Amino acid sequence: MRCSEKIETMKTTATKKKTKKKSSENEPIERSLLLELFEDELKDIYWAEKALTKALPKMAKNASSAELVEAIENHLEETEEQVQKLEKVFELLGKKAVAKKCEAMAGLVKEGEEIIKDTEKGPQRDAGIISAAQKVEHYEIASYGTLKAFAQTLGLEDAALILEEILEEEKNADQTLTEVAETTINVEALEEEEAE
Ligand SMILES: [Fe+2]
Repeated sequence: MRCSEKIETMKTTATKKKTKKKSSENEPIERSLLLELFEDELKDIYWAEKALTKALPKMAKNASSAELVEAIENHLEETEEQVQKLEKVFELLGKKAVAKKCEAMAGLVKEGEEIIKDTEKGPQRDAGIISAAQKVEHYEIASYGTLKAFAQTLGLEDAALILEEILEEEKNADQTLTEVAETTINVEALEEEEAE
């Protein structure tokens, strides 16, 4: 899922290319257009990270498993640092850090809130929180993978290194959530259901 505005930009770009030259299918993207897309994605993920610094404490507060609370709190700290790392990337571009609402992340956060609303505190809610948090991580992994690739293509090596670092943090956070789910949560949720 992508933010609609970006899709519009891409559509416009595609239309422009088509009308300009018919045999443009394999033509590489112009640097300025890729840079524009890169900056747009950067604003999107900057908004997403900032939104997560508010959403993660709510998730931690509603989780019961000590392992899950710890995993979320650790990632919250990392997320706060990621906001600063992204500001550094903006700085490398010579741009002011600007956040642009990411509808995808807003939707994922909302989904997490609904899971919390629809469940009782305990293993079931924990399993739901993990599911919501992993969807968030996967969105971030996709975004940072793209951003890193764009930065490399654009020759923005320092930016690419920062984005790579964040990408690894997101992958680790996702892995930790899988481990918490496998070792405690999913089994407990199952047992709770069987005991009913
Ligand atoms: Fe993040």
